[in-house]
Amino acid sequence: MNLAAIAELDRHFGIPGIARVVVGNGGLAKVAVNTRETAGEMYLHGAHVTSWQPRDAEEVLFVSAKSRWEDGRAIRGGVPICFPWFADNANDPSAPAHGFVRTKAWQLESIVQAGDAVTVSMFTESNDDTKRWWPADFQLVFRTTFGSELNLELVVRNTGATSLRFEEALHTYFRVGQIEKAQLQGLNAVHYVDKTDSNRKKIQQGSIVIVSETDRVYLNTKGAIELEDQALRRRIGVAKENSLTTVVWNPWAEKAKAMSDFGDAEWTQMICIETCNVSDLAVELAPGQQHRMKALVRVVTRD
Ligand code: BG6
Repeated sequence: MNLAAIAELDRHFGIPGIARVVVGNGGLAKVAVNTRETAGEMYLHGAHVTSWQPRDAEEVLFVSAKSRWEDGRAIRGGVPICFPWFADNANDPSAPAHGFVRTKAWQLESIVQAGDAVTVSMFTESNDDTKRWWPADFQLVFRTTFGSELNLELVVRNTGATSLRFEEALHTYFRVGQIEKAQLQGLNAVHYVDKTDSNRKKIQQGSIVIVSETDRVYLNTKGAIELEDQALRRRIGVAKENSLTTVVWNPWAEKAKAMSDFGDAEWTQMICIETCNVSDLAVELAPGQQHRMKALVRVVTRD
């Protein structure tokens, strides 16, 4: 998008002093929000949230210093949206990992202020390009409310004449002070698929501590999860609606080195906690119906 088009979006949607459409990294357009209560950023590229900082707290989301910021590439960090499949496409190895909407140019729909919170909505829909990979007719709306909490909502509408089956994930990268000093609570006794161990089904015992490459799909998860970060002296709560799976991912040292858009030591500073509906718990959607998945993030800082 050129500078004039970005300026035009700002004239149309911007709220002076509160939310502007500006040029972001790599020349990509982003919405930058700044209120008394919160600051945040969301790119039109992928409808990708890259920053959220409630007032008096440190940045909550992790973005790699080596991320690419260009058309056709996914941003490494923040909240990539995975749709309509998660990870590799089992039927087509040449299809992009995590689907095609994280690298798509979304449209800005609205920016709405309510007190000190700001909701940014973006949308996208099927076209000839998406049908190269997936024949379905659909519309997506992604709404992010930047406030004292971060509220992420993905709405999928089936605009076609046949029923749809899709996977979806809000692949959220949380920033942590030091991964060895972090733990995740809320998944005790939950069954999960361990992708680092030939997809074996296992049962979580107690809280999750990251001690090696971790890539797990937790099944039938409805409750909230808490990330305790001793190094940053804070707890991050992730609650959700209409999501039945949670993915927990940290690449650890070796895989980090193999990723060209991720720093060799950055695995110590992040963990992905992904609100999703994947694998056998993919969503079935009848024609004309819509599905709404939500993630709600809050931070409690210790003195
Ligand atoms: C996770 C998957 O959600 O995303 C991992 O479970 C994958 O298997 C990771 O490696 C990162 O994927 P990508 O495509 O962004 O490198």
